[in-house]
Amino acid sequence: MSKIILKGDICYLESPTKFTKIKSGFLAINNGKIEGVYIEYDSSFNDYKLIDYSNKLIVPGLIDTHIHAPQNPFRGISMDDELIDWLNKNAFCEEQKYTEEDYYKKAYDIFVEELKKSATTRASIFATIHKDATIYLMQQLEKSGLVTFVGKVNMDRNSPDLLTETTENSIFDTAFIVEDTKNLVNTKPILTPRFTPSCTKELMHGLESLQVRYNLPVQSHLSENLEEIELVKSLHPEADFYAKTYDIYGLFGKSNQNLPVKTMMAHCVWSCEKEQDLMAKNGVFVAHSPLSNLNLSSGIAPIRTYLEKGIKVTLATDVAGGHTKSMFSVIVSAIQMSKMYWRLVDNTKKPLTFPEAYYMATAVAGEFFQDFSLVGKFEKGYDADILVLDDSVLPTTLDLDIDKRLERFAYLNGDIRQGGIYAKFVKGVKLF
Ligand code: GUN
Ligand code: FE
Repeated sequence: MSKIILKGDICYLESPTKFTKIKSGFLAINNGKIEGVYIEYDSSFNDYKLIDYSNKLIVPGLIDTHIHAPQNPFRGISMDDELIDWLNKNAFCEEQKYTEEDYYKKAYDIFVEELKKSATTRASIFATIHKDATIYLMQQLEKSGLVTFVGKVNMDRNSPDLLTETTENSIFDTAFIVEDTKNLVNTKPILTPRFTPSCTKELMHGLESLQVRYNLPVQSHLSENLEEIELVKSLHPEADFYAKTYDIYGLFGKSNQNLPVKTMMAHCVWSCEKEQDLMAKNGVFVAHSPLSNLNLSSGIAPIRTYLEKGIKVTLATDVAGGHTKSMFSVIVSAIQMSKMYWRLVDNTKKPLTFPEAYYMATAVAGEFFQDFSLVGKFEKGYDADILVLDDSVLPTTLDLDIDKRLERFAYLNGDIRQGGIYAKFVKGVKLF
């Protein structure tokens, strides 16, 4: 594979506290991996192909750790309900359509094209219960060059008839997809019990067997909404808190053989202390989705508390609970929500800073993708997932430092036509 070197205004994080900034610097990529970041060009780069992005920002690619592909058609509408009513009136109605080949091809083509053009370089994606549509989505994502986990959703209770599988079919189709997509390089399956209310104990037990057999990662929803938590309590009086309903099946960071199970739990807005402690102990990742939590009036997640406990917090759009695919908007709203938590809930919990939020969306989320390879930092040996941003489309009279230009780009992202991503590299491959 080629050796390339990018010239431009480089900005990245070695820790969550402060950006490293190099004006007119050089980022060398060898065989899809970061070789190093340099202040000056020297003759050892002579066999690298130079790409000149002078005056543009060169930054790590953003990772969306929770997004529903089939909900893309209705994002930005019907936001007047809380979770359970919103699911019944919107999400479930849309997801029922994914048996229809013409429909799912059209919807997923749009989704993949939009994701490719966005700031997202990697994503962990929910599909629907449908096998054929999910395989189609995975094949299209593989062609896009993005790196993704994709889950066929499992649902065998408390769902509309057209979205209720038999337990056997749910397990069989999940295993079928794992086998059928083994040849894909950048697109991997992930176990995706939708959430406890839609999965019987038998189904969870079957998913545990698949987890052990194939060593699969897991994604689901947890403690998003108060009504949902009450529902889980009534369905599982034996569980002293929500996460137990995943944990007893070895689907919450650790298997029952005590092996690590990569687990991404969306929301965790209302996790009790015991639940938080188990997340920390088992290394469970949180997919914090502030825009979704706003739109569905779910609440304000105590993110500073999670960070203090050492919980791995990542950021996510949660389309279509979240209305936008822009991870820049998610970074900004995570900061804003943390300010409301500090102001309205607990004034000892400092708001997030811009570098902290950027670190969550790159380095921390990158750890979830380490089954592919190292990613999320500009360090030697990490995958070269890179965004090139043209902030000249946002003229200002100010002479700003590079990190301020990046912060401004994030905040003003909605002002830029088509998001302003000038170029995008995933694993060193230029997608556009
Ligand atoms: N909980 C179960 N399903 C969903 C979903 O599709 N979106 C959100 N936000 N929460 C859920
Ligand atoms: Fe979700």
